[in-house]
Amino acid sequence: MDQAQDFDRTFERFQLIANGPALFNAVTTALDFDLFRFLSDHPGSEFDAVQRFTEVPRHQLRVLLHALCATELVVKHDERYTNSEVAERLLASDAPESWRDTLLGWRRFQYPAFPHTTQALRTGTNTALSAYPGEGPTLYDRLSHDPETEAAYHASLGPFTHLFAPALLDHAELSSVGNLLDVAGGAGTIAKMFADRYPHATVTVFDMPSVTQLAAQSVPPHLAGRVRFHAGDLFQDTFPTGFDGVLFSHSLEVFSPEQNKTLLAKALDALAPGGKIFAYGTTAPDDERSGLLAARLSLFLNVLAAGSGMAYPAKDYCAWMLDIGCADVKAFTDLPYEHGLVVGTKGSS
Ligand SMILES: C[S@@+](CC[C@H](N)C(=O)[O-])C[C@H]1O[C@@H](n2cnc3c(N)ncnc32)[C@H](O)[C@@H]1O
Repeated sequence: MDQAQDFDRTFERFQLIANGPALFNAVTTALDFDLFRFLSDHPGSEFDAVQRFTEVPRHQLRVLLHALCATELVVKHDERYTNSEVAERLLASDAPESWRDTLLGWRRFQYPAFPHTTQALRTGTNTALSAYPGEGPTLYDRLSHDPETEAAYHASLGPFTHLFAPALLDHAELSSVGNLLDVAGGAGTIAKMFADRYPHATVTVFDMPSVTQLAAQSVPPHLAGRVRFHAGDLFQDTFPTGFDGVLFSHSLEVFSPEQNKTLLAKALDALAPGGKIFAYGTTAPDDERSGLLAARLSLFLNVLAAGSGMAYPAKDYCAWMLDIGCADVKAFTDLPYEHGLVVGTKGSS
């Protein structure tokens, strides 16, 4: 790429970033109006048809449709509107690959926090937590005192989990595990998918009492007995033992390197010899030069979730696992949705 092309590309990205917050809200508003689904059912709709369906005043609908066309998610041709292929696949349906509920979750739980970024990064504190009443230094502590918001938060994570989990569940490294401990397993989405995928296996979700209580209610009858729950605090309580796999999915991102080494050492104690630790989540590339999902997640973690952590690169997980005495540490990067998996084995001595 020559210098002029390089400038043009970065300038176009700059325009998207500068106008992004407004356009993001146009997209989620279109989701509120079920507009992408309507265009999926009626491709090539005229303005009047969209207006009759949405019942948005004509001028305001004109503004919204222009915004959606500017994003290129909706295409206007001969005064008719159609979903782009991306909108059709990611926004128009409730299919598992839909981003619909993920974006609505980001609107509710993530984006209100980001105006705090300057203050939070300067002070090293997750100052956006002030929007959540109660005690406790993390979003998770605060949510544990507000069951309704906690349930909505975990429900908002589910759709994205369905996008990124298959790369983990299909991974050869996980396929031989018969008894998995899913640390900070949240609503149990991955645990249920794991038990579905491996009918010979059992899985125990370790999380805060308020979370495991909620998650236990959503285990379908055919998985009963194979998806179990263990309530506790990651740092105050010991992990249950006797597992041949310990999974950290999207949980080590939340904490500091020191805390993560503590958690990994506890995982090693929970494992039988030969057992494996799996660190899975959004990972920045080792050179930390790219990764939009990783960058957004890292900011969210520091501004709101815990005031620490990041989408650490795989090399960090490798270094921690080697430090605590894991053998045969392997990293698998470039998994879909900027995900990475690092696996360490408990030696026999
Ligand atoms: C980002 S969520 C990850 C959920 C799930 N593993 C996934 O992949 O979607 C982090 C989880 O850590 C749990 N958590 C945070 N602090 C905790 C603590 N001190 N003790 C137990 N669980 C904790 C939260 O309740 C939440 O379910």
